[in-house]
Amino acid sequence: MNILRRNRRLRVNETIRALVRETTVTPNDFIVPLFVVEGKGVKEEIPSMPDYYRYSLDILAKEVKELWSLGIKSVLLFVKVPDNLKDNQGTEALNPDGLMQRAIKTVKDATPQMLVMTDVALDPYSIYGHDGIIKNGVVENDATVSVLAQMSLSHVKAGADWVAPSDMMDGRIEEIRLFLDKYNFKHAGIMAYSAKYASALYGPFRDALDSAPVDMEDIPKDKKTYQMDYANRIEALKEAVMDVAEGADMVMVKPGIVYLDIVREVKNAVQVPVSVYQVSGEYAMIKAAAQRGWLDHDAIMLEQIYAIKRAGADLIASYFAKDVVKLL
Ligand code: PBG
Repeated sequence: MNILRRNRRLRVNETIRALVRETTVTPNDFIVPLFVVEGKGVKEEIPSMPDYYRYSLDILAKEVKELWSLGIKSVLLFVKVPDNLKDNQGTEALNPDGLMQRAIKTVKDATPQMLVMTDVALDPYSIYGHDGIIKNGVVENDATVSVLAQMSLSHVKAGADWVAPSDMMDGRIEEIRLFLDKYNFKHAGIMAYSAKYASALYGPFRDALDSAPVDMEDIPKDKKTYQMDYANRIEALKEAVMDVAEGADMVMVKPGIVYLDIVREVKNAVQVPVSVYQVSGEYAMIKAAAQRGWLDHDAIMLEQIYAIKRAGADLIASYFAKDVVKLL
């Protein structure tokens, strides 16, 4: 047969495949989400996230040293706040000696060059499990934004390099930027969760932090008045473009795999790095299928990480970061 164009020449063996591979994954691609709890010597597995843990500060220090030794350069901190410190105003979020503020210092002491990002939203601090302050059954935008700006300042004062507002309130990026600048933290970065969808894939995360919206009369049962409708595409571009205009240094699309069309479009629409959060539910689905022997854990993990990068992600926040980096 006379077939002049044989595409399979470029796939004959791993050598040629490696030479022409369009997408690469390195340790520099990852942000590692970390869950922090009070206590000492605590390393507790999250039931809906097999092989993933909450750490007390002493163990956190060891963990970030290991991450750094693997070449990972960025972590994203979350805290599990004791019930007695929760309220409707996010008071504890501003405590200079709160768990988040101590966690930031712990990471900076253990690994001074590690880029420390912090989640900025009220849900772990909220008695209602919402990302903002509730008034008359509604998540109040502007009052919440003021607290988020103060919370961001508190984090950078404690040593955070970047803040990552995950709340989806309107106008928060501009308010945070102005507030940080006012206090002279002009080089603290903002990674905006810009296109954050109201997704059913956050369930295991809410188990990890005990931060799910409560089932109470007059309290919204879900986050659909602030997180995005998953039927929407153009709205994601609007959110990302507005966040950049307000001062975001980086934008995020979240979740990952189910939203790769959005990742590509956002990547093409803005001139800042785009990060993707491969969220807890995505992690849990892979773990559960692998535990049953239904999927090959490492193969499916790598396939999904490569897919996220191929779609346009510059950075990936992933619970698989350590596993992936060890395989590279
Ligand atoms: C808090 C926050 C959430 C996630 C990151 N920051 C949960 C939510 O919005 O309910 C989800 C991350 C994950 O599922 O892995 N605002």
